[in-house]
Amino acid sequence: MRSIVTYETQHGSAKRLAQIIANKLDCLCINVDTPFQAEDESVYDNLILVFGFRGPYTAQLTKLFMNKMKGKLNYKNLIVVGEGLFSEKEFPSVAKGIQDMASPYTFHSYFMKGQLRVDTLTPEEQALLGKFSELTGMKITDMGEFKEEDAEEIASQIEELLTGLSVPEDPNANQVKWICTVCGYVHTGEEPPEKCPLCGQPKEVFKKME
Ligand SMILES: Cc1cc2nc3c(=O)[nH]c(=O)nc-3n(C[C@H](O)[C@H](O)[C@H](O)COP(=O)(O)O)c2cc1C
Repeated sequence: MRSIVTYETQHGSAKRLAQIIANKLDCLCINVDTPFQAEDESVYDNLILVFGFRGPYTAQLTKLFMNKMKGKLNYKNLIVVGEGLFSEKEFPSVAKGIQDMASPYTFHSYFMKGQLRVDTLTPEEQALLGKFSELTGMKITDMGEFKEEDAEEIASQIEELLTGLSVPEDPNANQVKWICTVCGYVHTGEEPPEKCPLCGQPKEVFKKME
C-alpha cells in the first residue's frame, strides 16, 4: 500500500509532525497547497492529513482540503492527525466532520498536544488566541518546544495501524455519485439531494460523477 502525508502549517510544528510520520512510513510529504496530479492521487491508498487547530479557521481549513480532493478520495484509508493546545475535546467532532465528508472510507484519527511560541505570533493571532482563552477559560502561555517523542509515538501508532489495514472495498462501486460543484460533497443515489447537506446549495449545483 502507498501512503501520502499532506499538511497545513503556519508556525511549522504541524509540518514537523507530518515529516516525522512520512519518514516513518517512507512516503511523500506535501503541503496541502501543493497542486498534485490526479493520476498521482489515484495510486495512493492511504491519505494522512495533518493540521494545527486554529480556532474557527479549522472548519474552513478542512473544507478547503476536502475541496482540493473533490471526489478523489475513493478507495483510500483516511487518517486525520490534529495538533492543538486545548482542543483535544473538540477534535473528535472535527474529525467526525471530515469522516462524514469522505465516507465510506476507512477512517482513523489522532490528536497531538501542540506547541505555542507566543513570541512568534502576529498581533492578530494573539488577539484571536486571546478570544479563545476567554471562551475556554484557559490561560495561554508559551508551551515550549515541539515534542519530538510525542510525534514519534503517533508515527509509530500509524505505522502499526497501516500494517494491519488493506485497501477497502468500495460498497458503492456500482452506484451513481453526484458531486457538489461548490464544496465537493459527494452524494450516492439515483438523484442528487434537494440541497447540499454541507454548504446548503440547491440540487442544480450537483454534477454526475463518471
Ligand atoms: C491564532 C491561533 C489560534 C489557535 N487556535 C487553537 C484552537 O482553537 N485550538 C487549539 O487546540 N489550538 C489552537 N492553536 C494552537 C495551534 O494549533 C498549535 O500551536 C499548533 O502547534 C500550530 O501548528 P503550526 O506550528 O504548524 O502552525 C492556535 C494557534 C494560533 C496561533
